[in-house]
Amino acid sequence: MTPAELIARKRDGHTLTRDEIAFVIRGFVDSSIPEYQMSALAMAIFFQGMEDEETAALTQEMLLSGVRLEWPAGAAVVDKHSTGGVGDKVSLVLAPLLASCGLRVPMISGRGLGPTGGTLDKLESIPGFRTDLSITEMQAIVERVGCVITGATEDLVPADRKFYGLRDVTATVPSIPLITASIMSKKLAESLNALVLDVKCGSGAFMKTRDQGVELANSLVRAGQRMGVRTTALVTDMNQPLGRMCGNAVELDETLDCLAGEGPDDLRYVTLALGAELLVSAERCADPTAAESLLSDRLDSGAAREVFEQMVVAQGGDLKIGYQVAREQVVVAERSGFVTRMDTEALGMAVIDLGGGRRQIGDSVDHSVGIDMRAKIGDEVSAGDPLARVFADQKVPAIMSRVSSAITISDSQGEWPEFIVERIR
Ligand code: URA
Repeated sequence: MTPAELIARKRDGHTLTRDEIAFVIRGFVDSSIPEYQMSALAMAIFFQGMEDEETAALTQEMLLSGVRLEWPAGAAVVDKHSTGGVGDKVSLVLAPLLASCGLRVPMISGRGLGPTGGTLDKLESIPGFRTDLSITEMQAIVERVGCVITGATEDLVPADRKFYGLRDVTATVPSIPLITASIMSKKLAESLNALVLDVKCGSGAFMKTRDQGVELANSLVRAGQRMGVRTTALVTDMNQPLGRMCGNAVELDETLDCLAGEGPDDLRYVTLALGAELLVSAERCADPTAAESLLSDRLDSGAAREVFEQMVVAQGGDLKIGYQVAREQVVVAERSGFVTRMDTEALGMAVIDLGGGRRQIGDSVDHSVGIDMRAKIGDEVSAGDPLARVFADQKVPAIMSRVSSAITISDSQGEWPEFIVERIR
């Protein structure tokens, strides 16, 4: 079969076989199938979707395009993946927290692109912190400290790097099977025993509605389970930033608070719930209640914070030097009432426009800027009360007005958002 015949089969709604998918992914990686044919196939998949067995075969073939991490026999290796949200600093707390419970966590994370921040950018607020570890360094730090948070290397799932670049410029990113194969191939390259997915939905997420979030979460869980990894998912709310801080250095501050047993309730709640999924999947705890109590204890005792500090040192960072946060200006409520809605994507874009994130790959990032949400959905405010603090030295009036317009104040209270919208096991 030629590539054109295979594309036509998908275009006409047929199910591709495992051999056909292997042929196309291998051909794309070795460049015998050109980008224009791969783009056409991506568009056919975008419109026709994929059966579960096709998504699993695509995930498997992408995984086989690169190397996989290796662990000693009997190690309990786990990870969490988030589809990305504004103020989402869960990974920074969760990796050392799980390591403090005896699990190994090789967390390969990404940089921010668009309104959602990137875990690596937040960590790079720490002077000296390295996010470009080799696979050997990654494995050694996990063995010594219990966790690592670093970027993907060139040899991990090269098929995804090449394919994602093409999807990005052909408007084929928002396809559930393609997202599933992209995320799961990278996570499975970590050779995990258990994985939990945090699928965000709402005004600050890639998936805007609950139904879209649930559909993606189900697809990810089915793919993980087909590949022999205990996979569960929580669909969590992203109709407002998670916690209070949005930015890089300021989110690191909030992470350190959470690791000291303090910090905002929603961040702690979601972190404990995700961690509990993994402790249960890895058979370290009998049920989520026992798991959450173990995790709470590790946060409050300072054990998780100790692991975080060891990880920072192992990755070349120095928390003692301190990091810079820009000057603050307060955005106040123009009227009295209840906060009922936030345009969370607009808040994420405001951080980007301050220089705290990227519009394009390769843009530089200012770690010192950000926003602190002083009011959250459901809060009652009086005219003149602080709604947010903007940390910035430039563009301040324009950003303050955008932050103010992103927060809706109404006469009646409306509903409190649920932190966890759905659990998929
Ligand atoms: N994140 C990924 O890693 N891949 C996608 O396709 C979409 C989001």
